Amino acid sequence: MFIHNFRAKSLLCTTILRFLLFSQWSRVLGVHGLGINNSEPRKWWQEPFGMFQTNLREIDADMDVDQVASYIEQFGATAWLIGVGGIQAQYPTDLPFQERNPYLSKRESGDLVGDALEAARKRGLRLLARMDFSKVPAHIANEHPDWLYRSPTGETQNHTAGLVSVCPSGPYYQERMFDILGEMTSRYQVDGMFSNWASFNEEDYYKVYHGVCHCENCKPRWAEYAPDLELPNGPEDQTYPQWLNFSKKILENWRTRVIDFFAERLPDAGLMLGDSADIMWHEANNAIGRELWPHQTSETVSTYKSYRVAPVIVNSVAFVDMPYRMGSEEPANFAQYLLQTISRGGNPSTYIMGTPGKIPYLCLGVASEITSFHKKWKDVYDGLRPVAKTGLVLPNGDTMSGARYEESLSEFRGLYKAMQELHIPFDVLALEYITEISENGGLERYQTIILPDLGELASGEANALDEWVAAGGSLVATGSSGVGNDTVSLKSLPYERRRDVITENKLIWSTYFAPSQNDTELNIYSGPIVPVYGSYHVFDWKEGTSGIYKLLANAPFSPPEYAYGNVQVNERGAGIGAFKDGKGIVIPFTVGRGYYELGLKVFRDFYEMVLRQEGEARENVMFNISEQVEVTLNSREPGTIVVHLINMSGLRHQNFGTHLPVPAGTIRVSGVNVTAHALVADAMLVVRDGEITLPALGQFEVVVIKGLA
Ligand SMILES: *[C@@H]1O[C@H](CO)[C@@H](O)[C@H](O)[C@H]1NC(C)=O
Ligand SMILES: *[C@@H]1O[C@H](CO)[C@@H](O)[C@H](O)[C@H]1NC(C)=O
Ligand SMILES: *[C@@H]1O[C@H](CO)[C@@H](O)[C@H](O)[C@H]1NC(C)=O
Ligand SMILES: *[C@@H]1O[C@H](CO)[C@@H](O)[C@H](O)[C@H]1NC(C)=O
Ligand SMILES: *[C@@H]1O[C@H](CO)[C@@H](O)[C@H](O)[C@H]1NC(C)=O
Ligand SMILES: *[C@@H]1O[C@H](CO)[C@@H](O)[C@H](O)[C@H]1NC(C)=O
Ligand SMILES: *[C@@H]1O[C@H](CO)[C@@H](O)[C@H](O)[C@H]1NC(C)=O
Ligand SMILES: *[C@@H]1O[C@H](CO)[C@@H](O)[C@H](O)[C@H]1NC(C)=O
Repeated sequence: MFIHNFRAKSLLCTTILRFLLFSQWSRVLGVHGLGINNSEPRKWWQEPFGMFQTNLREIDADMDVDQVASYIEQFGATAWLIGVGGIQAQYPTDLPFQERNPYLSKRESGDLVGDALEAARKRGLRLLARMDFSKVPAHIANEHPDWLYRSPTGETQNHTAGLVSVCPSGPYYQERMFDILGEMTSRYQVDGMFSNWASFNEEDYYKVYHGVCHCENCKPRWAEYAPDLELPNGPEDQTYPQWLNFSKKILENWRTRVIDFFAERLPDAGLMLGDSADIMWHEANNAIGRELWPHQTSETVSTYKSYRVAPVIVNSVAFVDMPYRMGSEEPANFAQYLLQTISRGGNPSTYIMGTPGKIPYLCLGVASEITSFHKKWKDVYDGLRPVAKTGLVLPNGDTMSGARYEESLSEFRGLYKAMQELHIPFDVLALEYITEISENGGLERYQTIILPDLGELASGEANALDEWVAAGGSLVATGSSGVGNDTVSLKSLPYERRRDVITENKLIWSTYFAPSQNDTELNIYSGPIVPVYGSYHVFDWKEGTSGIYKLLANAPFSPPEYAYGNVQVNERGAGIGAFKDGKGIVIPFTVGRGYYELGLKVFRDFYEMVLRQEGEARENVMFNISEQVEVTLNSREPGTIVVHLINMSGLRHQNFGTHLPVPAGTIRVSGVNVTAHALVADAMLVVRDGEITLPALGQFEVVVIKGLA
């Protein structure tokens, strides 16, 4: 067994800690290049806000805007997102290619947008414009066939009410849309804009897949982009990954033009348009036929927050999925969207259909409570930044095959679950942003980064991680992370090469890792026995590295008469090696997938042991709280930490576990005069001998801890 030198580790960690504390705060204060400029006045959307979206149907044109604005104000929101134009203009447009909502004649003014803007202004609410350029009405489609999406067989994509999908590379998106924006912004000083369904329309509202667009605009653009390659029909074609890049680029260019356009016309408007926009956008929703991943919102907001210093809005859908727009989401599930949002420093938004009061959504009570809470404690949320010292990397579906991505995602989810339950605070780092995060100094804050079965890495990603390890980080890699068939991407990991990879059930089943054994020839074992599940990579380890646990090699498992004979062999359950000032830690099998897919705690225990012994980041708060609670760490000033505790009881992947006990638990802190304020209970908590006892936990609690060492 590997013997660990604790003293060396804690000295190293203290040094890293000091350095990290400095660099972290210098970043928040704008010294590094994350886009903050303190001498510029803040835009309205750089302060915390809550939003409410009335997603208009044409029949909502007669809404009583004063009543709705008052409702939104009382709800606790400070911004109102309302349908403005694109598919249907809610104002008297003069453009021939934008349909005017016929129901506007029911308004005296004939102008819903103007009226809503006035009602919002009277109450100090922000008004944001929702636009949708993804489809046009039939008569416009017939006049402009060159604007339309075309399937590989040349078909258009038709929807309810004769609407037809258009293509982002055509003249509608590229030119006419700017006429619409020009008209809209010249009439209304809106505070922001969101463009719905800005995509290549491969799939429609019925979840029918139509294929890659083959319109007369896409074809020559593609020929220029990839002269030697065939335009693919769909994901089954070899050139589809290139097409993803191609289509992404077209949308990125388009977004940049929209951003520039607004910067000139309405510089104070916040744009919710892609991941480089003023406000990063996520829609929290459910979907028919999609397995629930209960941490989705927390995960996504965290990837945004660890990427950029920019506000995040999470528009949370009050209905279960598009095909059931009147089918209310469960209140407890909806509450998770908003709580997970604020717990990671995002802004909450509630999205309903039409005029409030016309459809009985069940989740609006709890939505209002949480949105109002966020507003009440605006000062706590202002400038809140993630401060966890552990980062879990999220795989990138765009650069992996579908099957590999599923495996890696399952590994990610198992490790996410494990750390959530163990209350090891962590941020999610999206692999697609990692090079940029490294460039803007955003990796420096982490002491531990975990790579879940990611396979080969691109050279930029690998260099960024190697440099970070060299400077003192602990890199934990599971499964295939960092290896291809004949390649090793990371210098910082303790292996020379991969000798073999075993994924075939027949070979991997009935194989285990366990502590060093003496009597396996006699078929006597001591535990814990960790099944090897998913994939197992056999590495040649570098000289001077060490290992934890050994392999119990594959043996027959059936029929029972012959189910024995697992003999210990000299292969490591984890390999550890120093790299310059840091450390590489490899778990050569998919321990996270084991936990996610089989649910056995022995996987979590093994992962925890390796992490705590070899790569645990040092936090100045430690939690002893039941596993059904998700904990996040944020801060806005040194010495203060804002802890969000979310009650996740009732949720598990396949079944139910123990219920949440009351009281919820304790937090151990270091510091002499530490104070703890529970915001939901709005009470100061007792801090005794460095321990905070938490109050009984309802749906959530937020504890502001001050005076930390
Ligand atoms: C910050 O903003 C001020 C005022 O707009 C500007 O003069 C200055 O160049 C900006 N600084 C940076 C580093 O962008
Ligand atoms: C789809 O819409 C286009 C444009 O309005 C029309 O020409 C075509 O006939 C429609 N196709 C179907 C199958 O309805
Ligand atoms: C897509 O673009 C990314 C980043 O520019 C690049 O790393 C990747 O290799 C490209 N993928 C394909 C299939 O062209
Ligand atoms: C790696 O090898 C496996 C098994 O031979 C093969 O299926 C796979 O396509 C290879 N992957 C790459 C990226 O070459
Ligand atoms: C194996 O034998 C060694 C030496 O006798 C002993 O220290 C160790 O505890 C034994 N391990 C187990 C699992 O029995
Ligand atoms: C955590 O709390 C439980 C219940 O109060 C207690 O039994 C246990 O000893 C605590 N664990 C630690 C490490 O403090
Ligand atoms: C802690 O608080 C006490 C009483 O207010 C004060 O006398 C003492 O100086 C404080 N200690 C520190 C380290 O701030
Ligand atoms: C935790 O939340 C669930 C609803 O998700 C609720 O049923 C339960 O009572 C809560 N637990 C406590 C201790 O309040």
